[in-house]
This record gives sequence, structure tokens and C-alpha cells, in this order.
Amino acid sequence: MKANVQKAINGQINAEIYSAYLYLSMAAYFDGQDLPGFANWMKMQAQEEMAHAMKFYDFVYDRGGSVEMKAIAQPPVKFKSPLVVVQQVLDHEKDVTALIHALYELAQKEKDYAFESLLKWYIDEQVEEESTAGQLIDKLKLAGDKGPGLFMLDKELGGRTFTPPPAA
Ligand code: FEO
Repeated sequence: MKANVQKAINGQINAEIYSAYLYLSMAAYFDGQDLPGFANWMKMQAQEEMAHAMKFYDFVYDRGGSVEMKAIAQPPVKFKSPLVVVQQVLDHEKDVTALIHALYELAQKEKDYAFESLLKWYIDEQVEEESTAGQLIDKLKLAGDKGPGLFMLDKELGGRTFTPPPAA
């Protein structure tokens, strides 16, 4: 595995773990607001992000490379409202999509076909991640940022479970 590819994947592992950390911070906000369903949704999202990180991690070792953990930045800890939080989720996912696309361009430039193949899974996953976040925004707009609609949506989000992605 080329040094620049390994460095880029290490950077993405950091970004995925940051995503998990960000979503846990959002979960903490929702737990503080007595919205356990939203908190559950964010905790499941955080688990998905850790799984994304581990898929890259395993790939590096499958290819004879090595992983180095860097510091994880502190995520925001104060949030304005449930709607603002879910909008921030979508914005964040769009940023991650751009990172994945940049990695794909690197894989093509370096003719690293195995990396390119791995990234196809992430490209598809990002389409789903953005779509899920967008749907949550729509549901929350319909439900309203407080009152019975919010309570019902919170109950629905409490049902989200975690399904691990396929191994790299
Ligand atoms: Fe790892 Fe939500 O993208």
C-alpha cells in the first residue's frame, strides 16, 4: 500500500471516529432534552460510524499497512433545537461524502483498484446516509419541534437498531 494512500485512510479513520463522537454528543443533547428515541437514533448512528472506521482499519491491515490513531477533535456540545441538530447531521454527512469522493479520486490516481473497490461501498453508503438524514428532517418538520408530534416521532426513532456492515 502506497504511503499517501495509507495516510489518507488514516485520516478518514479519524474522520469516521469524529463522526461517532459528534453523534454521541448529539445523543447526549437529546438525552438531556428527555427525547430518548432521538438519543437512540444518534447512538445507533454513532455505532455505524465506528463500523465505518473499522472497515477502513481492517482494510489497511489486510493490505499490509498500519494504522496510527490521532487526536479526535472535540465536537459541539451545545445545540439549539432538535431540528437544528438533524440539519447539522445532514450537513456533516455531505462533508463526509466529499471526503469519500476525494479518496476515490486518489484511488483512481494511484491506480489502487482494491481501494477503489472498497470505496464503492462507502459511496453507496453516503447516498443512504444523506437520504436518511434528509428524511429525518422532513419528518421533524411535519411533527413540529415540540408537542405531541415530537413525542410520537421520538417513539418511532426509539425503534432504530444497529446492523453491522459487511466485512471489508
Ligand atoms: Fe461514516 Fe455517516 O458516514
